[in-house]
Amino acid sequence: MDSPVYLDYNATTPVAPEVADAITPYLREHFGNASSAHVYGRRAAEAVARARERIAALIGARSDEIVFTGCATEANGLALCGVARALAVRKRHLVISAVEHPAVHEPAMQLRERGWEVSVVPVDGTGRVDPDTVAAATRDDTALVSIMHANNEIGTIQPIEEIGRRVRGRGILLHTDAAQTPGKIPVSVDTLGVDLLTVAGHKFYATKGVGALYVRRGTPIAPASFGAGQERGLRPGTENVPAIVGLGAAARLASERVATAGPRMQALRDRLQARLAADVPDLRLNGHPVYRLPNTLNVSFPGVSGEALLEAVRADVAASVGSACHAGSHEPSGVLAAIGADLPRALGAVRMSVGAYTTDADIDRAAHALLAAWEALRRVAERSAA
Ligand SMILES: Cc1ncc(COP(=O)(O)O)c(C=O)c1O
Repeated sequence: MDSPVYLDYNATTPVAPEVADAITPYLREHFGNASSAHVYGRRAAEAVARARERIAALIGARSDEIVFTGCATEANGLALCGVARALAVRKRHLVISAVEHPAVHEPAMQLRERGWEVSVVPVDGTGRVDPDTVAAATRDDTALVSIMHANNEIGTIQPIEEIGRRVRGRGILLHTDAAQTPGKIPVSVDTLGVDLLTVAGHKFYATKGVGALYVRRGTPIAPASFGAGQERGLRPGTENVPAIVGLGAAARLASERVATAGPRMQALRDRLQARLAADVPDLRLNGHPVYRLPNTLNVSFPGVSGEALLEAVRADVAASVGSACHAGSHEPSGVLAAIGADLPRALGAVRMSVGAYTTDADIDRAAHALLAAWEALRRVAERSAA
């Protein structure tokens, strides 16, 4: 029996074979500590420097603007808490959106507990913020605006460039959580006009447990953890050399392939969407029809729960639901609530995300399984209602 079709690339990607090959020597012979002065250390330090150049090249940055971190969560925490620590004397206000990942929302709430004010800007029915609303939420004492580049659940891409034009130049820093975008769409810190940008290795074929924060030269930021001073003191602790090498290799692949990978994923995603929409009347798209990650399809199936649907197709499809079930009570995901989805729509949501190794045959198998399971579940629901 074949493994189920993996349609959860937004949760994590497999490690690319090229990345695994790049890492292996750093797990075996080149095991040195990058801070050591001898040849073992120098080899490790050189590999870290190369990886830094590659991740910088991916996002159009300079290599001295890259801080390696343990994950995107840590990079987001450093961006919010580090800027807050650096600017606390003059500033006390942050702006985030209503659809941020917990890795941005939670540090913002921590800062609120420490006396910062946090404005949470709403999104429209497609999950997009209005740049004018973001600008209107800023004040003289706003330190930072943090709006994600693209949403992990519904794929909506935010108008970061327009937000940048409205808030920068007024002494307000702009951070974007770009955990979901490298390798899917082009990412350029100058085009976006951001001061800080978060990257997550395991969302574009590197390993888990590695990320990076881009910090534009001159951006005021203080450490959020303390130790021996690695990563310019912003992320002290011995560098995870194999994971950083893997991040560099993945960055190079993403730079080389994004122009073809994006349209390829979009064709697969659109094929899946068309197959499902053809047979499911009232299938509802969650997310923006156009400003959306090319690999992401979040749809609500009418009359069934996404959880029951995925359980029914578990032998054929690995995807995720757009709603979480807390302690037996069905609660819609915060993102679906933010776009105004009612409870049945939120509970019927399924997120499917394709990637580099998805094929047409995978899409056809997944669509077939989902459609058959939806029909069967709907018939059961109709019978029990009768
Ligand atoms: C938009 C976004 N931000 C942050 C994260 C956190 O990434 P990590 O768990 O690797 O720290 C994720 C991962 O799901 C994400 O999708």
